[in-house]
Amino acid sequence: MSLMTSTTPIRVASVSKSYLLLNTSRSYASLVATTGLRCGSGPLLARKRQSQTNTKRFISSTPQQQIKDFFPAPNTPRIKESETAWAHPIYNESQMNQVIVAHRETKNWSDWVALGSVRVLRWGMDLVTGYRHPPAGKEHEAQFKMTEKKWLTRFVFLESVAGVPGMVGGMLRHLRSLRRMKRDNGWIETLLEEAYNERMHLLTFLKLAEPGWFMRLMVLGAQGVFFNGFFLSYLVSPRTCHRFVGYLEEEAVITYTRAIEDLERGGLPAWEKMEAPQIAVQYWEMPEGKRTIKDLLLYVRADEAKHREVNHTLGNLSQRNDPNPYTSKYKDPAKPHPSKGMENLKATGWERDEVI
Ligand SMILES: [Fe+2]
Ligand SMILES: [Fe+2]
Repeated sequence: MSLMTSTTPIRVASVSKSYLLLNTSRSYASLVATTGLRCGSGPLLARKRQSQTNTKRFISSTPQQQIKDFFPAPNTPRIKESETAWAHPIYNESQMNQVIVAHRETKNWSDWVALGSVRVLRWGMDLVTGYRHPPAGKEHEAQFKMTEKKWLTRFVFLESVAGVPGMVGGMLRHLRSLRRMKRDNGWIETLLEEAYNERMHLLTFLKLAEPGWFMRLMVLGAQGVFFNGFFLSYLVSPRTCHRFVGYLEEEAVITYTRAIEDLERGGLPAWEKMEAPQIAVQYWEMPEGKRTIKDLLLYVRADEAKHREVNHTLGNLSQRNDPNPYTSKYKDPAKPHPSKGMENLKATGWERDEVI
């Protein structure tokens, strides 16, 4: 529990141990706090009750097969597995290591509204996830120390919010295309794919931690407010909304960069040798030998950097008439142009006269 949450009016402190259960995942030590958790029915409920009698097992050697899978694939007589239509582009390690923290300068009132809104949202998110971002040089001070559990709390909350804008933007553009009987020029697909990608981030982190009632309540409230707010805002100014997402993704890159640095510095010992969940290995096609939690965070951060680029680029375009550069074929393909992969990543997006 950080100082932030212990001093805020929201009484996170009293429930802090119950809103996230860390999966011990793989068969070695990790943290487990098991009080007051919601859980599934049947055998899982029985198992959870049994575990609740052994509260505060800080070190667990539970074999992996005994770990509860929070959302196992349904077992049906005929279906082996469900596949996605959106295969993830392949990232290589050197591309992912080149991702940098970056900020697009504000240029007009629309950018200011977007950046101001992100700062307000960031403040709220820090509050509910117990996060304090350290000023430069103060990363090692105790008040800014993050644990595996604190990071997962932040990731789960962040990703549950991050999956909303792409779906809202895609949905509204879809409806506009139907209503006006006009084509959309390729935007819908990219926006829905972004929402799907964010949901995969969430599902991946949920393999490492099970949220309790407090986290679920926060997510429910945040989704209700954020969905409606973004929906109305997108009707008024889609350009400002894409800029908003661009700035939000700048924050996401900062968050994951700091988590990676924490891990590299030895501040997150339970994750040092832990393998990424199978759902992540499959989704990103993580190569053999590159499937640690650090590798996973590099993939997620690269996705966030891509969202940052895509949304800043979309925010530079004519919302009604311009084709989506990320689904377009170029007359001169030899010149650099936006793509779905990491090869032409531009931290603060492409300007309109570079891509249209
Ligand atoms: Fe994400
Ligand atoms: Fe993102």
